[in-house]
Amino acid sequence: MTIEEMISWLREDDERALEDLWRMADDTRRRFVGGEVHLRGLVEVSNHCARMCSYCGIRAPSRIQRYRMTREEVLECARLAHSLGYGTVVLQAGEDPGLTGPLISDIVRAIKAETPLAITLSLGERTPDELAGWRDAGADRYLLRFETSNEKLYQRIHPPSRQDSPSRLDLLAMLHDLGFEVGSGVMVGIPGQSYLDLARDLELFRELDLHMIGLGPFLPHPGTPIFEESEQAKDQAPASELMTYKMLALARLVCPRANIPSTTALSTLNLEKGRELGLARGANIVMPNLTPTRYRALYEIYPAKAAVRDTPEQCAANLEKRIIAMGRTIGEGRGDSPAKLHHEKREKNY
Ligand code: 5AD
Repeated sequence: MTIEEMISWLREDDERALEDLWRMADDTRRRFVGGEVHLRGLVEVSNHCARMCSYCGIRAPSRIQRYRMTREEVLECARLAHSLGYGTVVLQAGEDPGLTGPLISDIVRAIKAETPLAITLSLGERTPDELAGWRDAGADRYLLRFETSNEKLYQRIHPPSRQDSPSRLDLLAMLHDLGFEVGSGVMVGIPGQSYLDLARDLELFRELDLHMIGLGPFLPHPGTPIFEESEQAKDQAPASELMTYKMLALARLVCPRANIPSTTALSTLNLEKGRELGLARGANIVMPNLTPTRYRALYEIYPAKAAVRDTPEQCAANLEKRIIAMGRTIGEGRGDSPAKLHHEKREKNY
């Protein structure tokens, strides 16, 4: 698919025409990753953050109550993920120096010693040594969104920690080389993000050979600088539910084997149907939140995050019912990326 074709889909508003896009995405999803929906237990380990991203509710200057889960609390969540039948636990946090290299390695080893879970880390931009150490400890996957392929926009919303630190794209390449399954993604409708930018994001997904792609609508957080400025692009893409589905469907078409979640940000825009519509338009993964309820509301990267009040058990039961009702099945096992297997086979053949 060319950039022009992508842009023309992103601009399409005719519901009948869009049915074709949804159908293509759903067919591709079925053909390449099948009918299984894999559940990943999400644990928001800490809301401390050293960074100043202009859109994020847990950015360093936010005057919010901060928490950092203990090793034992994280292990308890991993046990819960396993007992609910999930194959993966995702440890996500702000860029928190208090989550030291050795502490995370220790937690990864402890989870691996006790459970067969795959472990995904999503802990921000960390040093090459830390990333290598975590891989050694047994971590399987790493998520680091590049947020937007538009460099100027990226710099505007994302002040660097140090001038000489590796870029997110450098880090993604490094993660690849370390043997992680690598995930990235973007926000849709950031103020200053054009239709062309979104099409270029899709191209970058393809170039990066991503194993996992996460994307959701940009949701303005009242406590953040971007909320005040919100400078629109000349050709501004809206942060709408529909635009997010289009990006999801197109991501499936450009990376047919990737694991793609129907994200919480999407269900925040449509609590009733967001998750299902995401799954029907390209997604094959759901990430139920296993963060202890006492911390949930504090992990407010954007306002009114969906399902804040459900207990993990309620969340799991509810989700499974809805997935079965769609004629899909709950994925068994770890749900490793078919994209990674495919790339490895391809490399062996050369
Ligand atoms: N709106 C939507 N998504 C956001 N994220 C952070 N802040 C917001 C926001 N205001 C997303 C970023 C980050 C992920 C963990 O959450 O894409 O990578």
